Amino acid sequence: MAVRSAARYPLADGFLMGASTSAHQTEGNNISSDLWALENTPGSVLPERSGDAADSFHRWPEDMDLLRELGFGAYRFSVEWARVEPEEGRLSRAAIAHYRAMVLGARERGLEPVVTLHHFTSPRWFSERGGWLAEDAAERFTAYARAAAEILGDEVRYVATINEPNMLALVHAMRRQASRAGGGTGAVAFDPAAVVPDEQVTHALVGAHRAAAGALREANSRYLVGWTVANQVYQPEPGAEDAVAAHRLPREDVFLHAARDDDWIGVQAYTRHRLGADGPLPVPDGAETTLTGWEYYPEALGEAVRHTRRVVGEHVPILVTENGIATGDDRRRIDYTEQALAGLAAAMRDGADVRGYLHWSALDNYEWGSYRPTFGLIAVDPHTFARTPKPSAHWLGALAREGYLPAGPTAADGNPLVRTLV
Ligand code: BGC
Repeated sequence: MAVRSAARYPLADGFLMGASTSAHQTEGNNISSDLWALENTPGSVLPERSGDAADSFHRWPEDMDLLRELGFGAYRFSVEWARVEPEEGRLSRAAIAHYRAMVLGARERGLEPVVTLHHFTSPRWFSERGGWLAEDAAERFTAYARAAAEILGDEVRYVATINEPNMLALVHAMRRQASRAGGGTGAVAFDPAAVVPDEQVTHALVGAHRAAAGALREANSRYLVGWTVANQVYQPEPGAEDAVAAHRLPREDVFLHAARDDDWIGVQAYTRHRLGADGPLPVPDGAETTLTGWEYYPEALGEAVRHTRRVVGEHVPILVTENGIATGDDRRRIDYTEQALAGLAAAMRDGADVRGYLHWSALDNYEWGSYRPTFGLIAVDPHTFARTPKPSAHWLGALAREGYLPAGPTAADGNPLVRTLV
């Protein structure tokens, strides 16, 4: 039986408690995207294709109804560029109307829409003409962001331009190395932890983010624009502090530096990465791992928030836009999230300006190549698409409704942790 902390950190009015998804992972049949093309290439390196995903393209009203009924007040979802602009320069009015209905649907239900414009997938035409390295990539992305303003209207405040640019730059470098190492077969014959994100792609992404953010603010001054970074929570072994700082710079900090003039920064944390003087270390022997093979390490969230605050600066508010665990054991999801939230509460108590917590993920979904790692608060039947909230969804929804985070003891308050059995 799980032991639950009864210590509480009360949340300010307006704190966003909710859950996140992305379009490609939940909608299904994202056929004009680059990833759909890759998934459906004969002999693809991806073990499973996204197919119908969770059919959220049609079932989004049900997803939002559930989130509201569970007690949540916010929903992060993404607009799919490949649907809005399936061919270069040709906007789909139907797709714009679809996402506009989602924004209005969220508001009608009392859910704050947090909208991402690019979550890993690009239109196929964009990738085929050079992706982020094409000379006019920033211009193309900015034109799409301008078109997206019609979707966002006056109802959206929080807009994320690009999700995890650091992962995009890393995947680019990994693909290049894989094609060198495997002669184009995509076979991986190198250590992915040692790969450095592509510097040119990094530069292009920072440029595209800034240009799109400017265009969005110009379109509507109420938009709060930021981007969301994959926080790696690098931990040095004694003596490896400088090596870690050097390792972290191109993989994370450069993307945090780029957020210093933004309206907010998205923190996305799941696990930690330990490093010695000679580089990345494996997950410690005997440590619990999750369905993604990552170390079970709920402290990652609090540590990521503290690091982000240090690097970006205290003046930029933080939204936790992703945090969660891939597990088939929902009790473990509650344990993990409870501890992660206690770390978040401690960071907030120490002064971090955190405006929201959006759990990854609202639904079990397509985890970029496989349906096996289940991150969802809500289970989805792959054949009927029936949604079933898990106990964790009810547990987290109740925290949202009651407006507090579970909070462990801190040095600051010195109170003993009051524990009750549930
Ligand atoms: C991504 C999500 C992904 C999650 C778990 C983040 O990197 O933004 O799309 O599903 O982590 O891997």
